[in-house]
Amino acid sequence: MKITVVGAGNVGATAALRIAEKQLAKEVVLIDVVEGIPQGKALDMYESGSIGLFDTCIFGSNDYKDTANSDIILITAGLARKPGMTREDLLMKNGTIIRDVTKELMKYSSNPIIVMVSNPVDIMTYVAWKVSGLPKEQVIGMGGVLDTARYKTFIAEALNVSMQDISALVLGGHGDAMVPVVNYTNVSGIPLTELLPQDKIDELVTRTRNGGIEIVNYLKTGSAFYAPAASAVEMIEAIVKDRKRILPCTTLLDNQYGIDDVFCGVPVKLGKNGIEQVLEINLSATELEALQHSAAIVDENCKQLTSLLA
Ligand code: 2OP
Repeated sequence: MKITVVGAGNVGATAALRIAEKQLAKEVVLIDVVEGIPQGKALDMYESGSIGLFDTCIFGSNDYKDTANSDIILITAGLARKPGMTREDLLMKNGTIIRDVTKELMKYSSNPIIVMVSNPVDIMTYVAWKVSGLPKEQVIGMGGVLDTARYKTFIAEALNVSMQDISALVLGGHGDAMVPVVNYTNVSGIPLTELLPQDKIDELVTRTRNGGIEIVNYLKTGSAFYAPAASAVEMIEAIVKDRKRILPCTTLLDNQYGIDDVFCGVPVKLGKNGIEQVLEINLSATELEALQHSAAIVDENCKQLTSLLA
């Protein structure tokens, strides 16, 4: 198993180390345009192997040739948000970066699975899918896993219970219109609605929607990276170990949920082939409407990239 991580910034470097520590690959290639940064960070991580007890070779490079024959590629390249910015404000700049990065990657790997983290993630997943020519099952966006992780954290904190016992789902695009699905949220099988009053649940839902900007406002110069990297690696682990996990991921919908030809976060089965199934669950009329609204925003933004992808 060879895994390439594009972008040696905070998300990429954190993810690369986590992949090695979990021994998910024999080889991890960390690639970035900035000279020396991927080489230095990769060597530093590699040298921690004898302490962390992993044998994964972590190698840094500025040359896409070193990504040759990757099985999985995690793309984290591009700009992150600053306070006052929405993820969509990054559209044109990151769209150009992801287009060019994907072209380079596809020169050297013929059939990888791509996991996209760069924002706005649903739209960048579309860009990578369009440019790579890969089947839609092999180009997957990371949004829902992160949003769900935040939602679970806030629920566990509010109830003073273990995070492990929370089962939840956040669907839709990874933006302000994301849809935490309260009807599918439970604590060891007990519906959340039996444990918390509606106004408290509404508070947790709002905090989840604003989870990304809450961190940006603290950091000022960048956005979250520990939870995003952990989320991406959870997806990669499901693929590497063929675990058939059911996780909310961004995929190209084909008339599921009344949404056609748009990348949007829904529950999928993740295994060695990438997305092995899209699950279509029953949603209330309000939730379905919210999901379709979120997908419509993604669709509108994708249309703005037409000239970039021509
Ligand atoms: C976030 O929500 C970076 O989009 C990412 O923190």
